[in-house]
Amino acid sequence: MSYVLAIDQGTTSTRSILFDGEMTPVARAQEEFPQHFPQSGWVEHDPIDLWTTTVATCRTAIEQAGISPSQVAAIGITNQRETVIVWDRITGAPIHNAIVWQDRRTADQCRALRDSGHEQMITDRTGLLVDPYFSGTKLRWILDHVDGARERATNGDLLFGTVDSYLIWNLTGGAVHATDATNAARTMLYDIRKGGWSSTICKLLDIPMQMLPDVKDCAADFGRARSDILGAEIPIFGVAGDQQAATLGQACFKPGMLKSTYGTGCFALLNTGETPVVSKNRLLTTIAYQLGGNPTYALEGSIFVAGAAVQWLRDGLQIIDDAAQTQALAEAADPHQDVILVPAFVGFGAPYWNPDSRGAAFGLTRATGPAEMAKAALESVGYQTRDLLDAMSADWQATGVQSTLRVDGGMSASNWAMQFLSDIIAAPVDRPVIQETTALGVAWLAGMYAGLYPDQDEFAASWVRETQFTPTMDPNLRAAKYESWQKAVQATLSF
Ligand code: G3P
Repeated sequence: MSYVLAIDQGTTSTRSILFDGEMTPVARAQEEFPQHFPQSGWVEHDPIDLWTTTVATCRTAIEQAGISPSQVAAIGITNQRETVIVWDRITGAPIHNAIVWQDRRTADQCRALRDSGHEQMITDRTGLLVDPYFSGTKLRWILDHVDGARERATNGDLLFGTVDSYLIWNLTGGAVHATDATNAARTMLYDIRKGGWSSTICKLLDIPMQMLPDVKDCAADFGRARSDILGAEIPIFGVAGDQQAATLGQACFKPGMLKSTYGTGCFALLNTGETPVVSKNRLLTTIAYQLGGNPTYALEGSIFVAGAAVQWLRDGLQIIDDAAQTQALAEAADPHQDVILVPAFVGFGAPYWNPDSRGAAFGLTRATGPAEMAKAALESVGYQTRDLLDAMSADWQATGVQSTLRVDGGMSASNWAMQFLSDIIAAPVDRPVIQETTALGVAWLAGMYAGLYPDQDEFAASWVRETQFTPTMDPNLRAAKYESWQKAVQATLSF
């Protein structure tokens, strides 16, 4: 029997999941690693932690399954996107901690780019807005702040990569410096229409292009993991950013299909087919996947705080011990209290894009307690998703967004949250049987390229729904609740 190993290098942990020849997960290993917050709004990871947890979890998953490493036919890598690493081409040593996608340190740099009128040019090429979220300004920050970095990069001595690229480079013992089109599309340096790095943007940001990786399809030959690392030489045949991998894992192959993943943040992607759709409603245009040299595009709505709102209840307010408690609390909440939590803890992502806003709560009374706060946190995720879906529908009226939303990620396990989501978006919400959607998506890419897994159509046919949530909320109540949310957002934005 042959297997496929999916590496999912995420924001708070690294996971490795082994899938058998039938695409069934048979072993998994997970390791968390420290988060570094050197200043308010700054978020860093030690790249060595990302590497060591990757190797450790891969080895554990293979061991747990009781198989020989030589039975692993292919590796797929999926990752937290936008996070920036710069390392020495000869020694492999990173020259700075990884600057994580959540990091807001380049807000002023982004404001200056917008004020000097560069945003339209950047959006035209990359499909992105100028925001600290993306890699470009973070990379520039490293080149500006690490002694001698720009000179070394210009001399070809330094390499840049998102996390996928750094892992590929290390797994192949420095033989391959590459990324895939979906990760490249999140850097704010890549022309998603022409399919190449933008020399105009690199010049504007003073980024030496020799430090950028080769860009490949999502299913391609990314080199071989060395045998001294995992016990056998194993080809890397699949790479995709985690949200794009989830789009594949949810089999959203047809234009109009959409998925939403609830992890730390929430990321909704709508497949728009072969043509990039320009958003008039502050969504991102991005690459959903690229196969056979052909990109399939998506509209993306990115929300920075979804599951992180529940983490705040646990770690910040300390009113729960475990995320699963929110379900019972929400059920027990006083129905007469309308508490609204706007969890803009790190500013707003789509569709408001304001890095300087911070969170707010409305409608508090002396009777407000943990139950009402837990309910408000879960509801905030539904409201934010509705914001995104409304923007998507407005951007894509011509073809029409499919009404059903496919969901995955940790918070999708909460029936209460998923029922509220269905109620507030007034559409069915489908949760699949295999909820390891991100890992499955990249395992499918690698396994398909290896000739082990089926083609796109057969894979799409294998997607099975576990539960469908359908709207039951009274339309007047829905309208009133959503209006309150919109007012709360506007008040937060203008605070
Ligand atoms: O764009 C950021 C996203 O890729 C992070 O995903 O699952 O690591 O929180 P996650």
